[in-house]
Amino acid sequence: MTDKPPVLDFATDWDHTDPEWVTDPYPIWEDLRQRCPVAHTDRYGGAWFPASHAGVSMVAKDTDTFTSRAVVMGNGRPTEEDLPAPIGLAPPITSDPPFHQIARKLILPAFAPRPINALEPQIRALCTQLLDDVVGEKIVNASQSYARLIPPAVIRQMLGFPEEDTEKFIEMVHVIVEAIDLPEEERIEQFVPVEEYFTRQIEEHQANPRDDLTTFLLNAEIGGEKLAVEHVFGTMVLILVAGIDTTWSAVGASLWHLAQHPDDLARLVNEPELMNVAIEEFLRFYAPVTMARLVKQDVEYLGCPMKEYDWILLGFPAANRDPVVFKDADKFIIDRAENRHVAFGLGIHRCIGSNLARLELRVALEEFIQRYPKFELANKDDVTWSQGQIRGPRNLPLRILA
Ligand code: HEM
Repeated sequence: MTDKPPVLDFATDWDHTDPEWVTDPYPIWEDLRQRCPVAHTDRYGGAWFPASHAGVSMVAKDTDTFTSRAVVMGNGRPTEEDLPAPIGLAPPITSDPPFHQIARKLILPAFAPRPINALEPQIRALCTQLLDDVVGEKIVNASQSYARLIPPAVIRQMLGFPEEDTEKFIEMVHVIVEAIDLPEEERIEQFVPVEEYFTRQIEEHQANPRDDLTTFLLNAEIGGEKLAVEHVFGTMVLILVAGIDTTWSAVGASLWHLAQHPDDLARLVNEPELMNVAIEEFLRFYAPVTMARLVKQDVEYLGCPMKEYDWILLGFPAANRDPVVFKDADKFIIDRAENRHVAFGLGIHRCIGSNLARLELRVALEEFIQRYPKFELANKDDVTWSQGQIRGPRNLPLRILA
């Protein structure tokens, strides 16, 4: 962490790593929606933040004005040379049209309902095992001992990586998405082991092909040609990053909510058929993912003088709390009937892993509340939240009551 001056006004000097934003961003976004359509900051070399659903939606759908070449805000800007088009760092999330569609179509089948639903028994067995591991404990850190360990095990298996590497995954994801405050050179340095690890895995799969996503990518073709090795590498890194912290955060935030709302917990325990609807409300209310874009060239947009290479942060979680679109937007309604939330994004980059995310979230919650039908926060002040573009509780001690 670097020492940064505190934010005095989020409308003109926002910082999504400011402790106030990290701990409880919702009042800040509500205030921004009322005061200015788009907040600005000179931090990170210049960045914008639309807090309304309309603003987020407009930017997310406008691939002419904004590029996805870089989607995680940092102090530097990747140049065309660093990330040669059209592949970029992590296709398809860092690809723009027309290559985006090709890169996306390639991996869509792996995340379709049929292959994903087939994972349910093993996800359930994993959750049961994790709960068995803490059996008898009166206080369970539901983020560290439970939510954190579910997604990496699933992704590791999908990619066909060794079982003992699950912890390594979590550390690598931290480097990519959370350590954004480090100077650019340090970030690049931290990325070296990630690159080495993936290169080793790719080589190992080339030597011993098998039925997994890594082999699938190595065999995939575009226009009759095998994928460039950077493409295979980038997509693997993306799946790792996109599939781990995100779902960990969603499971953690949902348990954090239930720990403080015994009525909602009791309803889920007594009315299990409510789970699918409840999951959509968890995703709306505690949407964990915010993605960035870069402005392609100087432009007047949403009334703002945006400059080439300014960042624009797409607050899907803020859009989900916009009262213009959602009735009682600031209320968690466990059986909310109409819920067109944007937790999985909008436009061409909409989440590919939503089937898997929903499955993991549902199974993780079902198993947890079946084992522990009553729990509460052990100590509110001990709860900590991740900083950066993926938000969820990282320390979540729960007192088990039944
Ligand atoms: C609750 C969990 C999750 C949430 C809230 C979430 C959210 C998002 C969002 C908002 C985007 C759009 C990014 C953008 O516009 O730049 C996205 C894209 C993506 N997500 Fe997820 N995600 C989750 C879980 C997953 C999982 C489990 C996977 C796969 C293992 C995954 C894979 C992807 C991929 C590959 C993209 C890029 C799609 C493209 O660029 O066309 N996500 N996700």
